[in-house]
Amino acid sequence: MKHDQSPSPNELYQEFLKHLEDLKNKAEALDLKAKYLGKNGIFSIILKDLKDAAIEVKKEIGQQCNEYKNQIEDLIRSKLDELELQEINRSLAEDWVDITLKNSNLDRGLTAAGYHPMTIVQREIEDIFTSMGFLILDGPYIEDDYHNFTALNTPADHPARDMTDTFWFKNTTEGKQRLHKYLLRTHTSTIQIRGMETYSPPFKFVGPGKVFRCERTDASHEVVFHQIEGMIVDKGISVSNLIYFMKTLLQEIFRREIEVRLRPGFFPFVEPGFELDVKCLICQGNGCSVCKQSGWLELLPCGMVHPNVLREGGIDPKIYQGLAFGLGLDRLTMMRYVIDDVRLINSGDLRFISQFKSY
Ligand code: PHE
Repeated sequence: MKHDQSPSPNELYQEFLKHLEDLKNKAEALDLKAKYLGKNGIFSIILKDLKDAAIEVKKEIGQQCNEYKNQIEDLIRSKLDELELQEINRSLAEDWVDITLKNSNLDRGLTAAGYHPMTIVQREIEDIFTSMGFLILDGPYIEDDYHNFTALNTPADHPARDMTDTFWFKNTTEGKQRLHKYLLRTHTSTIQIRGMETYSPPFKFVGPGKVFRCERTDASHEVVFHQIEGMIVDKGISVSNLIYFMKTLLQEIFRREIEVRLRPGFFPFVEPGFELDVKCLICQGNGCSVCKQSGWLELLPCGMVHPNVLREGGIDPKIYQGLAFGLGLDRLTMMRYVIDDVRLINSGDLRFISQFKSY
């Protein structure tokens, strides 16, 4: 190659700039880089050819070549970045997924993901209570004798223990069988005790969850069912607070005006204790099969917290009063969705569960 006839480094560089403009993708950019800077690229050949040239020419052309090589290197690098970005944007625009598209599996009822009806109703109720300033508390399924009975004014020899036959654990840790220590909780009232252990009055909370009883199952009885416990402790709490909260809650749940009545009910941990009934929402109180012709549905055991329970929780009953209720969640869910057999709730039957999809 004769140096005087060959293109100068500057001419080569100008030519490179034109090619740079035309690049369409990363592959072309890498080819161009190889063409100018590669081992057998244009600049390498020039530098190789220089070895026979005069020393000044060598110096001048060599220096120019190295400068242009560095510039080309930089330009290619930023071009590659630019092209990469373009490619990402293009694929974002072209490869989008329509997340609103209907899954044909859903039509066949196969993979409908959704909430269990108990979860839907439980969350709605939690929202209502949260909006009234209640805390939502949790408690363990495996409870000790103390939290399930003794602290709730139901000592070991109390006949009320017989009302709730349940599942006891054998105490295996000590080698010997020490019966009647741990059990599956029979009610969420255990959360009353756990709440008092954690908070000082005034407070109000609800505690939803599963409860367990040794029951003979039928359309309205299950071994595992759900309750929401509620407790308010403050100064000057009375039965009228109880009626107000319960009415508000039930109106929110059923989204209509409802009528309630209180009947006396016995629970060792409340005094006085009540059963709160609602006027049957199906027959408006005229009598139907759901309310067994009585016109009323028994929905909510409740009462004023017994002073012994408050004392057990470290609260002075002369200063603070409390009210408590235990809402049966399965019953509420059954009324809400017109479910006629409680056993469906824990059945795990997809034909049943997939009918409820939203919250
Ligand atoms: N724990 C009682 C039950 O399961 C219900 C209840 C709760 C009654 C709170 C009064 C107050 O039967």
